Amino acid sequence: MEESLLQTYLVTGGAGFIGSNMLHFLQRERPGVRTINLDALAYSGNLRNLDGLDGSRHRFVKGDICDRALVTELVGQCDGVLHFAAESHVDRSIQDSSPFIRTNVLGTQVILDVLLDAKRSGASKRMLYVSTDEVYGSLPLDRPDLKFTERTPIDPRSPYAASKAGGDLLCSAYAHTHGLDIVTTRCSNNLGPRQLTEKAIPLFVTNLLQGKQIPLYGDGLNVRDWLHVDDHCSAVLAVMERGRAGEVYNIGGDNERSNLELVRAILGIMGHGESMIRYVEDRLGHDRRYAIDATKMHEELGWRPTRSAWPDALESTIRWYRENEDWWRSNDHAKIGNSARSKKG
Ligand code: NAD
Ligand code: DAU
Repeated sequence: MEESLLQTYLVTGGAGFIGSNMLHFLQRERPGVRTINLDALAYSGNLRNLDGLDGSRHRFVKGDICDRALVTELVGQCDGVLHFAAESHVDRSIQDSSPFIRTNVLGTQVILDVLLDAKRSGASKRMLYVSTDEVYGSLPLDRPDLKFTERTPIDPRSPYAASKAGGDLLCSAYAHTHGLDIVTTRCSNNLGPRQLTEKAIPLFVTNLLQGKQIPLYGDGLNVRDWLHVDDHCSAVLAVMERGRAGEVYNIGGDNERSNLELVRAILGIMGHGESMIRYVEDRLGHDRRYAIDATKMHEELGWRPTRSAWPDALESTIRWYRENEDWWRSNDHAKIGNSARSKKG
């Protein structure tokens, strides 16, 4: 898709963590682009995340991606879709997978059907589906040489990952069967401003800010590949503008840390000792390790992370939570009782 032809993007889930960072990123990097932000303001959406956006280039619409009439109206007003809206938290999907299937599978299908209608009427529009590295399943700890590539078979292991894989597979099916212009990204764990305190880094940091311990699941040796959210946004933009239709692109920072290493880094930056770690019961089905091979992004689109250097990305993220206490306190309702997990010993 030609960059110059894009006037307006429909951004779904733009009141959430990554979606809102994408909106701010677009206003900085693409002054000519306008955005329509469709968000249901589920528990994870927050209008405060839109503070500071230039209202002449951004319009917020409260609504559900499963509402076909509304999606049809908004797709009619845009040139392309950046689809972030989702139920995004693994622990919630273990408690109840229903909202995950509804939003992540059925909601994605609604958008695809609307795009198919548009194509049949002669108005083909590109959609970027924001998938996740979790669709690949889990890697063993004793094979550090292994990473997920775009050819790694899909093997989701949590209800969240399965629902994202459902949306992901529907996208490739509509691209293949109907020739829809779909690109898909599969990114690793993000850190940065405005992430809900149900997720590991904001939970750990805000617990310490309140003098509470960090609840570390299992043995703490599970590994995640951390990427600053701005680097995710720059990758999404590169794929939207220059990715090949029907292709999948892995996004990652080559920044693997065990959860224990992550926690120790947070404790060091915030000036606390290991007595602030509380080992708790493990997450059911807890994926051991994620690691992304982003060679395709590097070689085909020339994308590289620029904000994910360690520990700088972690330090700047911690600083944001220190400086925005009113934001995270107003989001505390989103926690789902991680701290209520039983102590292991
Ligand atoms: P989030 O939970 O912070 O935000 C999700 C947003 O979607 C919220 O604003 C919510 O109100 C909205 N939403 C939920 N259901 C909706 C519906 N039915 N209709 C309209 N809006 C709805 O999530 P996030 O962490 O910002 O993740 C955004 C996307 O990126 C998701 O698709 C997620 O799977 C993917 N992803 C996240 C990460 C990560 O590390 N957070 C990494 C890779 C991929
Ligand atoms: O990999 C991409 C995925 O990253 C995204 O698709 C998901 O939307 C996003 O939530 C994230 O999933 P994770 O399950 O990896 O992230 P979470 O922040 O929930 O947990 C990170 C690690 O920390 C994981 O190994 C579980 C562990 N953890 C988490 C919490 C909330 C703990 O040890 N204690 C906790 O209290």
